[in-house]
Amino acid sequence: MSKLQHEIDQKSERFSTTGFIIAAIGSSVGLGNMWKFPYITGENGGAAFFFLFIVCLIVIGLPVLLAELAIGRSARGSAASSFERAGGGSFWKSAGILQVVAPTLILTFYIIVAGWTLYYSVIAFNGNLFSGIAFDQQFSQFTDGFTSIYWQFAAMVISAFVVILGVAKGIERFNKIIIPCLIALLILLMIRSVTLPGASSGVSFFLSPDFSQLTAESAIVALGHAFFSLSLGMGIMLTYGSYVRKEQSLGTATVAIALGDLIYAFIAGLIIFPTTFSFGIAPDQGPSLVFIALPAAFSAMPFGTVIAGLFFVLLAFAALTSAVSLLEVPVSYIMERLKWTRTKSVIMISIIIFVLGIPSALSFGFPQLTFGGKSFFDWVDFVTANIMLPLGGLASIIFAGFRWKNAAEATGLSARWFKVWLFMIRFIAPILMLLVFLHTTGLLNFSK
Ligand code: PFF
Repeated sequence: MSKLQHEIDQKSERFSTTGFIIAAIGSSVGLGNMWKFPYITGENGGAAFFFLFIVCLIVIGLPVLLAELAIGRSARGSAASSFERAGGGSFWKSAGILQVVAPTLILTFYIIVAGWTLYYSVIAFNGNLFSGIAFDQQFSQFTDGFTSIYWQFAAMVISAFVVILGVAKGIERFNKIIIPCLIALLILLMIRSVTLPGASSGVSFFLSPDFSQLTAESAIVALGHAFFSLSLGMGIMLTYGSYVRKEQSLGTATVAIALGDLIYAFIAGLIIFPTTFSFGIAPDQGPSLVFIALPAAFSAMPFGTVIAGLFFVLLAFAALTSAVSLLEVPVSYIMERLKWTRTKSVIMISIIIFVLGIPSALSFGFPQLTFGGKSFFDWVDFVTANIMLPLGGLASIIFAGFRWKNAAEATGLSARWFKVWLFMIRFIAPILMLLVFLHTTGLLNFSK
């Protein structure tokens, strides 16, 4: 490649100012908010938990998000090399590599669920979802067999295609198209949901806090979710940060991203809770809520078929904009490490992720793929989200607080805000993150 061509490529590997914020919101707004959030909010007493989630976003989410973005921007490398380039020694290289391995593994099962949302969008619109077969049976028939693999493949191909087009022409453009559609769908679905008969009990469950329901465990769960939801500890924000222009204010971007995530979670709550309460469904059932209970509710409401279709399109959009961000992490690493072109890196990594995901996709129908009471899918989810993610988060926090020399300049904060940030990142965030880690690994039990 000529020097000129190389420079042009480097330039196109930058987000525009708004493009970056939209892409980062696209990453944070994902399946987690729609699938995990109602589940854990339902389990932890509704509004009080939501309030706690907001506190966690502010106390730990904002400082760590800012740290990861700023480290990424000052290092201008892949997630694997960013701590090292920002001044860490060789130990920090391993911490960086963890932040590449984790999203790669997460994507192996995330893309499967993204595939489910694509399939459900199609069958909702063509009417097959409402053909009379029980919804739980339909879901297990689909996930037990090989059909889900075609959809996993489709979701992988779409994400790969976007990432091949590059940062500005692919990721940014994709998010700029999808996010406005996602917002329109969210508002539409929220209006449908809050106008259902009996919706008000769901709204008040979600919005009137009962703090007596909260336990130490709720606080830890809220913290973990704030992290998961903002895509922290996963190399994603380190990688996206490396494509941010040097003039951009990271403080403003950080607040905008967290706010976007929060508003999405809020509206997701206003879709899920009124619908579940209106139809007498328990809101704390995990994946089956989205793929089994909600279709049942949709089938019984006016305009249900269209609403169901739109709901799954919304989920597919949310999933794909996040999948793209997860995929960019190993792609940026391979391009840097092996000096491969973007296209070659994306194709190779997508094949690996797709193949590694097959046992997870099949683990619903094949009991041979269950070990120690957990399916292969659940194991990958458990190890990545509960062990690797908090460890990756701790690495970012400790590096930012104690090893990072040019933090003051790189974060671009005023002297006063920098002091606040440093205090949070040095003294509050590590303790909280450690508690999350001890809780998610089961090393400490925080329940009542
Ligand atoms: N933040 C997105 C979500 O909540 O679905 C994407 C994501 C990021 C998922 C990081 C998982 C993860 F560990």
